[in-house]
Amino acid sequence: MRGTWCAALSGQFVAMNVSRLAFKLSRGVLNTITPPIPTAYQWASLYSPTAARPLLDMSQGVPGTPPPEVLRTALGMAASSPTSFGYCPAEGEPLLRKALADEMKVIYGSDADVTAEDIALTAGCNMAFFATIMSLADAGDEVILPVPWYFNHQMDLTLLGIKPVPLQTLPEDGFSPSVERCRSLITPRTKAISLVTPNNPTGATYSPALLASFLNLAAEHNVALIVDETYRDFVLDGVPHRLFSGPWRNNFIHLFSFSKSYCLPGHRLGAIVASPLLIKQIRTVLDCLQICPPRPIQIALTQLLPTLRPFVRETAMAIRARHELFRRVLPKRWTVGAQGGYFAFVKHPFVGVSSLEVSKRLATELGVVSLPSAFFCEEEDVGEAGWDKARWIRFSVANVDDEKVKKILSVRDQYDPVNSTLIAWQLDYFRHARSFTGMTTAFSRLLLA
Ligand SMILES: Cc1ncc(COP(=O)(O)O)c(C=O)c1O
Repeated sequence: MRGTWCAALSGQFVAMNVSRLAFKLSRGVLNTITPPIPTAYQWASLYSPTAARPLLDMSQGVPGTPPPEVLRTALGMAASSPTSFGYCPAEGEPLLRKALADEMKVIYGSDADVTAEDIALTAGCNMAFFATIMSLADAGDEVILPVPWYFNHQMDLTLLGIKPVPLQTLPEDGFSPSVERCRSLITPRTKAISLVTPNNPTGATYSPALLASFLNLAAEHNVALIVDETYRDFVLDGVPHRLFSGPWRNNFIHLFSFSKSYCLPGHRLGAIVASPLLIKQIRTVLDCLQICPPRPIQIALTQLLPTLRPFVRETAMAIRARHELFRRVLPKRWTVGAQGGYFAFVKHPFVGVSSLEVSKRLATELGVVSLPSAFFCEEEDVGEAGWDKARWIRFSVANVDDEKVKKILSVRDQYDPVNSTLIAWQLDYFRHARSFTGMTTAFSRLLLA
C-alpha cells in the first residue's frame, strides 16, 4: 500500500523497494496504533454522494467555518511582514502570553491567578500535551487516562514508553470519571492523571466540583493533574472550573488549543498553563520540538484576542444549537450518552454488532461519517457482556451545517412506524446472527428508524 503511494508520487519506486527497511524501527512507534481518522475517510471514499444524500462528514473535530475577516486580514499582514520571519522565544511571543493571561480572567473569573510567566505557547495542543508529558514522565512511568480516551494522548504515552492506565468511565455516570476509581489506580509509578473536558470523544463536560476533587486527589498523591481544555470555550453555562482561583501551581497543568475557539487548526497554536517551575523545563523540551510556535498567527492574535470574544461566543452558541438539532433529529432507537464541546456520543441500537461495523456501514452505504468507540479504547475481546461497551459512536457536530444535519431527518421521515415490529425482529435477528450479511436493503431504514 505504502509502496503504491510512493510510486504514484515519484513515478519510479515500486512496492518492493519501499516495503522493507534495512534498519529496525523504534519499539515505541511499533507499539503505537496508526492514527485512526484516515480509516474513516477511506470508508467515506467508498460512498457515492447524491444530491439528496451528500456526504455528511461528522468524523473529525474540525471547525466548520473560517475565522472572522479581521483575523484573516491581520494574519495575512503578519505573515508578509519582514518582522515575522525569524524565531521568537521557545515559549512564544511575550505579548500574546500576556493577552492570553488576561483572557483567562474573563473565562475563569476575575480572581483567576494566571500570569504571562505561567504560560508557554505551543504549535497546537497536541504539542502542548507531548511537551508536558516529556517534561514530567519517563519510560516505565504511568499516566492515568479516562477511557474512552483521546487517541493522541494514548499514542503519545505509548510512543514514549509510558504506560497509559485506563480509568473506565461509564454511560450511567454520563461518562464522567470517578475520583474513587481513579484513586484505586494510583501506584508509586503514577506521574499524572490526565483529563479532557469537555471530553473528546464523549462530549462529557466535567463539573467544577469534580475537577476540584481530582485536583485534591492529585495533591494528596503528589502527582500532576493535566486537564486538556481544548473545548473550554464551548462551555456556555458558567465557568469551566474555579481551579485557578485557589493554590493550583503545585499540581495543576492546563492545556489549551486555539484551533477550535478561533477556527484556525492549520495555523497550529496551543498553550500550556503551569507553574513557572514546570514552564522552565517545558521550555527545554519545546526548544527541541518546535524552537518556537508559528509567529504570524501569534502576532495577528496579540491585539485581536479580546475583540474576538463575541465571535467565539457566537460560534459556541451555534454549536450548542446544532447539538440540540442533532438530538431532535436522531432516530429514536439511538441513545445519546453525553453531548458537549464538539461531540455527541451515541449508542446504536443493534444488539451484538460492534460500533466499528455500524460506523463503517453508515459511511459506505449512507455517507454519514462518524468514529466508532473502538477508535478510542484498547482493542478488547468483545464477548457477550462487552457488546454494550462496543456500541458507542462519536459524531462531531462542528464541521457540518444545520442543513446537513437535517438530511438525517429527511431519511428518518421515510421511516414508517407501522414497521416497528419488523425493526424489533431485525434487532433480534442481529443478536442471533451476529452478522449483517444479506440485510443491506433493510439496513438503511433500520439505522435511521
Ligand atoms: C482533546 C483535544 N486535544 C487536542 C487536540 C488538538 O488540538 P491542536 O489542533 O491545538 O493540536 C484536539 C483536536 O481534536 C482535541 O480534541
